[in-house]
Amino acid sequence: MSSSSITIDSHITPDATGDTVKLEIVRAMTTMPKMLSPKWLYDDRGSELFDQITRLVEYYPTEAERSILEDHAADIVAATGATTVIELGSGTSDKTRTLLDAFWADKTMERFVPFDVSEQTLVDAANMLAERYEGLDVHAVVGDFTRHLPQIPKEGHRMVAFLGSTIGNFHVEERRAFLGALADTLDEGEWLLLGLDLVKDVPRIIDAYHDPSGVSEAFALNVINVLNREFDGNLPVDQFVHVPYWDPVEERIDSRLRVTMPMLGRFEALDLDVAFNEGEELRIEVSTKFRDDKIEAELAEAGFAIEHFWKADGPTEDAPPDFGLILARRV
Ligand code: SAH
Ligand code: TRP
Repeated sequence: MSSSSITIDSHITPDATGDTVKLEIVRAMTTMPKMLSPKWLYDDRGSELFDQITRLVEYYPTEAERSILEDHAADIVAATGATTVIELGSGTSDKTRTLLDAFWADKTMERFVPFDVSEQTLVDAANMLAERYEGLDVHAVVGDFTRHLPQIPKEGHRMVAFLGSTIGNFHVEERRAFLGALADTLDEGEWLLLGLDLVKDVPRIIDAYHDPSGVSEAFALNVINVLNREFDGNLPVDQFVHVPYWDPVEERIDSRLRVTMPMLGRFEALDLDVAFNEGEELRIEVSTKFRDDKIEAELAEAGFAIEHFWKADGPTEDAPPDFGLILARRV
């Protein structure tokens, strides 16, 4: 068999001090409330900590989604006949192997396109996959899926996988823009495979973001180290605590870093002084939990027709399902 090929396209300038990025952080730190894009959570260390989160017993989404993929990977292959599999926010592509194994066994997949902002994690995953599937064309894309969807390769009959409920990390208007841009990128008859965390018992959700071992908090706090490093800052990370709120109206976890005392910091590379009042919070990410009717309507509006909506059972017989996986066709 021929050996695999690896291509890596990068759409992110290695120089994080570019003007767009600088402006983004100045804005994040000077608006009320202070609010960052979740992509800053995932430097090498952040990706490693997220990987640890996926192994926590409290963090049910990963195993729940994996169980659906195990049960339905063959159905996904048969329904889509995809020759190019794209994964947005692919991270380590760990769970994705379940899906790729099924495509590989079918001998029709030609190309896998992992797409992530975290370059090192992506390169490691690309190497691992090229070794596992000998002859596969691995075309990795380092990019921001809120900006670089038009740069996704066009070859083949495509399926875009967006797993881990990463779609829940968008705010409502961003989610609409993302689904619209994704629909524009795909041709009629191409596919979306979408993983979604579902509304359930609130304490079970909160525990997933607030584990006693402190891994979730370490992951959340790491963003301060990322900003200090990238923008020559001096914010004291030990003066922040991670507070994951449950927002009952939006039905989402709203993760914030709260300062325990008033704080003055500075980012030299931005020529920016930053002040926090006592108790002030920096918003770092939302994790929306979905109801069927809401996501069904949003997909329809964007131009996707749902062909399958599989669910993973909850922890007890009378509990609602834990997680959902939708297979939808661009119409
Ligand atoms: N799909 C994996 C990882 C989910 S964590 C899983 O299901 O477990 C979210 C992933 O999305 C991380 O790997 C992170 O680096 C990536 N990510 C976050 N924001 C992004 C953005 N704006 N563009 C591209 N990738 C992003
Ligand atoms: N995308 C993950 C999620 O929404 C990210 C995440 C997991 C996270 N645990 C966290 C973000 C704790 C901030 C804090 O589930």
